[in-house]
Amino acid sequence: MRKKIALIGGGQIGQILAMLAAQKELGDIVILDIPELENPAKGKALDLMEMAPHGNYDATITGTSDYKDIAGADVVIITAGKPRQAGMTREDLMAVNLGIIKQVAEGVKQNAPKALCIIVTNPLDAMVYAFWKLTGFPKHQVIGMAGTLDTARWRAFVAMELGVSVSDVAGTVLGGHGPDMVPLPRLTTVGGVPLTEIATKEQIDKLATRTREAGTEIVKLFGKGSAFFSPAWSAIIIAESYLKDKRRVLPCAALCEGEYGVNGLFIGVPCLVGAKGMEKIFEIKLTDEEKAMLQKTVGVVQKTVEETKL
Ligand code: APR
Repeated sequence: MRKKIALIGGGQIGQILAMLAAQKELGDIVILDIPELENPAKGKALDLMEMAPHGNYDATITGTSDYKDIAGADVVIITAGKPRQAGMTREDLMAVNLGIIKQVAEGVKQNAPKALCIIVTNPLDAMVYAFWKLTGFPKHQVIGMAGTLDTARWRAFVAMELGVSVSDVAGTVLGGHGPDMVPLPRLTTVGGVPLTEIATKEQIDKLATRTREAGTEIVKLFGKGSAFFSPAWSAIIIAESYLKDKRRVLPCAALCEGEYGVNGLFIGVPCLVGAKGMEKIFEIKLTDEEKAMLQKTVGVVQKTVEETKL
């Protein structure tokens, strides 16, 4: 029997998620949106079914506004919520998106209590915490997609700056999904060559700043709405690693219980994602400077989480 992937929110990111999940043949796909947008969700699903002969995939793709249709889902990816508009911070979305996450958490808890849940909705670190708190799901079953995206952006910018293949750039970004995130140049390599040996400090600082502001750079260009291709791919590789037990080590927002000196918060850290979900957090020995930067981002996340009052 095929796996089942439920996409809560069928907007910009949701529709790309559906396309990628279909192309990768991850399983059958349900796109769930609010009742007013049930028909567009059905339309997107039908459009993707009609793409299948050229896309060469077998999957049943449906649209709905009824949570009963996500019953038994193996993976739930949540993008329900408002995106940023130009001039907004992710935190400006808190009130409206928290209300939405409360509804979604109830629907998922009732209908897909065993699913691996990947949260994309912003402000990410607070929304993943709220979802975990509201569902009471075990920590290995709840993952925030942010570090995966932040790291993709970091790798892309390094490759663009140095004129090298992005496939050869490895690295990681820690912390919250905001301007205080912590790219780690010290641990970034290009085909095994340390970044710090082939780029100047000035170049590296510029790349780190661009990574921290990458989401905002796109919001400014769009004017309306936020990034959707790269967030979708980032969530899909987490889902794929789980469904196929690929055991990838991906930077994700995971519940830290002592790791990195953090307790009870979801923070972007390197995680092993396999058949049991978020199986393990890898701890890196950080320098004092990196520790100070991490502490700062953790403080920001803590403040946002407190605003949820959960
Ligand atoms: N249940 C299900 N779907 C909902 C609900 C709800 N309670 N509330 C809103 N939605 C749907 C909207 O109707 C819309 O179709 O979520 C979808 C969101 O899509 P977009 O507005 O296009 O936003 P998108 O760009 O996909 O971003 C979604 O991810 O990266 C974050 O900041 C971004 O919070 C935003 C989220």
